Amino acid sequence: MTDYNGFMVNNMEYIHVRDVLAGAYEGKTVMLRGWVHRIRKQKKMVFVLLRDPTGVIQTVVKEAVVSETEYEDSARMLIESLVTLKGTVHPDSRAAGGFEVQVDEIEILHFAEEFPLTENLSTEFLNDNRHLWMRSRKLTNVLKVRDEVFRSAREYLRQHDFYETTSPMFVGTMGEEGGDLFEVEYFGRKMYLTQTSQMHLEPQLFAMERVFTLAPSFRGEKSRTRKHLTEFWHLEAEEAWCDHECNIRRQEELITHMCHAVVKNRGPELEELSVDPEKLLSVKTPFERMSYSEAIDVCQAAGLDLKWGQDIRTEAEDILTRVRDSFLFVEYYPKEIKSFYMKNNEDDPRTYKNNDLLLPRGFGEVIGGSQREDKADVILENLARIGDDPEKYKWYIDIRRYGSVEHSGFGVGIDRFITWMLDLEHIRDCVPFPRTVSRTYP
Ligand code: 4AD
Ligand code: MG
Repeated sequence: MTDYNGFMVNNMEYIHVRDVLAGAYEGKTVMLRGWVHRIRKQKKMVFVLLRDPTGVIQTVVKEAVVSETEYEDSARMLIESLVTLKGTVHPDSRAAGGFEVQVDEIEILHFAEEFPLTENLSTEFLNDNRHLWMRSRKLTNVLKVRDEVFRSAREYLRQHDFYETTSPMFVGTMGEEGGDLFEVEYFGRKMYLTQTSQMHLEPQLFAMERVFTLAPSFRGEKSRTRKHLTEFWHLEAEEAWCDHECNIRRQEELITHMCHAVVKNRGPELEELSVDPEKLLSVKTPFERMSYSEAIDVCQAAGLDLKWGQDIRTEAEDILTRVRDSFLFVEYYPKEIKSFYMKNNEDDPRTYKNNDLLLPRGFGEVIGGSQREDKADVILENLARIGDDPEKYKWYIDIRRYGSVEHSGFGVGIDRFITWMLDLEHIRDCVPFPRTVSRTYP
């Protein structure tokens, strides 16, 4: 029997729906508990589809078998009521999953009120009721895949000697783009919600060499696109003794590991979500690479009015990836559109040794990364060039004064990654309680 809290009732344990559907209990008496997914009444019997975290199974409550109260209660309860039952497993080709449980005993632990979610509701209504919509098969499956993405990311990084650590969410001014900061009133002072944990990770690699954090980042971008959340989950890693080439390898290995792990451990969920596992299994290292300059040429050839020095945004990303089934690294972006902390590229001094990783099929940028500048004086020069105040970055520059080490790092947008993986319409579809410009409830 599976571990279901390990509680014994009448010398029996509750088991999960998945175990019954797997066939091991044919002809046996089992105890199940969960929520009523659907209900259908016929003469002298009630079909109750029972849902637990592992699946849905058809059960049948017959007037001739159970007590009068049990039958009346079964007949009058509404969907999402909470029940426990005991019954015998029979193969039944008409039942979804191939098995039916013929109920001997049933208890309704909670009679649900009328459930507000029915068929064909607007996206807006469903999002307003996300606290209830969560119970849908679709969202449950998505959240289980999300769990495996988190688990396998940690697995890969631990296997490669990264320590998991944390960084503060309240920060001073440092981040990616000034205009997108969320300001917080902090005991009479201004603080900000962090846009990236990178700056607080870098000092930690001087202690642990390889570090990562899996935490939210906050961006006040007003972009109402299917790719933007105001609070997203950010997997960020920093690695000592690691140059640009090493950084690229780390990113592609991590992504590949996660794709394969989801197929290995979430096969049934992918199937229910109609995702072809081949799409994930075909992800293989090394990924294709293209320089920023080449990418500009490709976009120009496709008719886009984009000049060298401008950023690669949605339209350009679409041109580069819409007919592509594989990941694409774009590297060596111009200094003027990237951050001062990146390492100079000696081969083309207009650029830094940085990269973005683009998802296939127009799903956008999933990673931003770079080799970090390890010389304090070069960082000061970069700041002077862009007219930023070095005082703000005092401690960040300070770490380069004591045993400065070559290092690199990157940040994965976990929600974008899952959106691509499951071919979801909108990034909020993979988050339990999404936060966007217009969505803050529930
Ligand atoms: O490219 P970004 O801004 O890079 C950084 O923040 C670096 N400091 C990371 C690092 O090197 N440690 O953000 C990294 C990724 C993006 O590629 C994107 O996938 C995701 O974070 N991202 C968002 N995801 C959802 N909603 C948003 N508003 C996002 N902004 C960035
Ligand atoms: Mg970026």
